[in-house]
Amino acid sequence: MKVLVTGGAGFIGSNFIHYWLKNHPQDEIINLDKLTYAGNLENLKAVENNPNYKFVLGDICNIDVVGPLVRDCDIVVHFAAESHVDRSIIDCAEFVRTNVMGTQILLDAAKEHDKRFHHVSTDEVFGALSLDSKEKFNESTSYNPHSPYSASKAGSDHLVRAYFDTHKLAITISNCSNNFGPYQFPEKFIPLAITNLLTEKKVPIYGDGLYVRDWIYVTDHCRAIDLILQKGKIGETYCIGGMASDINNLQIIEKILKILGKDKTMIEFVKDRPAHDRRYAVDWSKAKIELGYKPEHDFDEYLTQTVKWYQENQDWWQKVKSGEYQKYYKKQYGGESC
Ligand code: NAD
Ligand code: DAU
Repeated sequence: MKVLVTGGAGFIGSNFIHYWLKNHPQDEIINLDKLTYAGNLENLKAVENNPNYKFVLGDICNIDVVGPLVRDCDIVVHFAAESHVDRSIIDCAEFVRTNVMGTQILLDAAKEHDKRFHHVSTDEVFGALSLDSKEKFNESTSYNPHSPYSASKAGSDHLVRAYFDTHKLAITISNCSNNFGPYQFPEKFIPLAITNLLTEKKVPIYGDGLYVRDWIYVTDHCRAIDLILQKGKIGETYCIGGMASDINNLQIIEKILKILGKDKTMIEFVKDRPAHDRRYAVDWSKAKIELGYKPEHDFDEYLTQTVKWYQENQDWWQKVKSGEYQKYYKKQYGGESC
């Protein structure tokens, strides 16, 4: 099978490519990525000479690039997106362009060439749960996005579903919770905290720090997508969550401080994020019943592994923080995507 992965140079996309080549060594992967600030080909160094892996520098908004790649593949797994909530608050334009328009362009190509399309989405489209409820998001939860990022992802989800309803396009969607693990860009909470602490900088905690996320180790997310591709029902959505729910940001920082042998003086409370969603929690029982999905990576154990990965790969994140990582592909590809 030939799998077209969009956004494969980002955090989850690159983990997915490693996962796929390991578990489906007979398949071919084409990675279409624009290499925005979040794309890093160093994430894929270990597979760059694998004959079953090919990188294409390009923008999902460019139909001339997307059309032939979709025509020549068997299945599209769509990760490419602007993914950081704080950036969407500062400037939303790229979020609408890539997340909404880029998805529409891919959908049109998939429709024209009649290809299976899996859309990787987020639990943030459902909005926020309250701290005192036991409620969790599931596939019937109404959409109620609060950030420009989640609104753009919600727009893309609606388009994907509309192409199934209208054009009978063979789609599936996954709405997953907060991922953590290797190669996560150090703007996101867990890698930001680890890399700050490794350089003796304080960790900024937004507001009161009592915000709750459902944390999933990235390999569990990759496996869930694999299960959806193999056993998922066309037209369906699957909510995917991890092993850790109901842990707040302060508790997570306390765990990281303990792993690194540091104390609470390294925490700095800062101004809250506007429209900060109080709590996310995911009910993944549909994926369990229909696909046999279950998260396998324990939160505490894999948080420790993740801290260790950042300790052992300082070169990776220091190049990211200094901007040097972008020189690598600029040298190879001239730095401009089409
Ligand atoms: P990321 O920001 O690390 O990576 C995004 C990738 O997409 C980068 O390689 C970037 O270069 C590429 N890209 C951006 N715009 C592009 C364009 N116009 N054309 C081609 N490539 C482009 O993101 P991530 O955290 O790996 O998230 C991947 C997907 O998973 C996103 O769709 C996101 O909404 C979704 N998701 C993320 C999480 C999470 O916790 N990170 C959870 C659930 C769902
Ligand atoms: O739920 C899935 C989503 O998880 C994905 O769709 C997004 O792409 C991904 O970025 C993530 O969104 P969050 O906003 O939950 O992740 P972030 O890492 O930005 O923040 C996690 C929590 O930590 C959130 O409550 C905000 C808080 N935070 C974050 C940063 C960056 C801080 O307190 N301080 C910080 O410096």
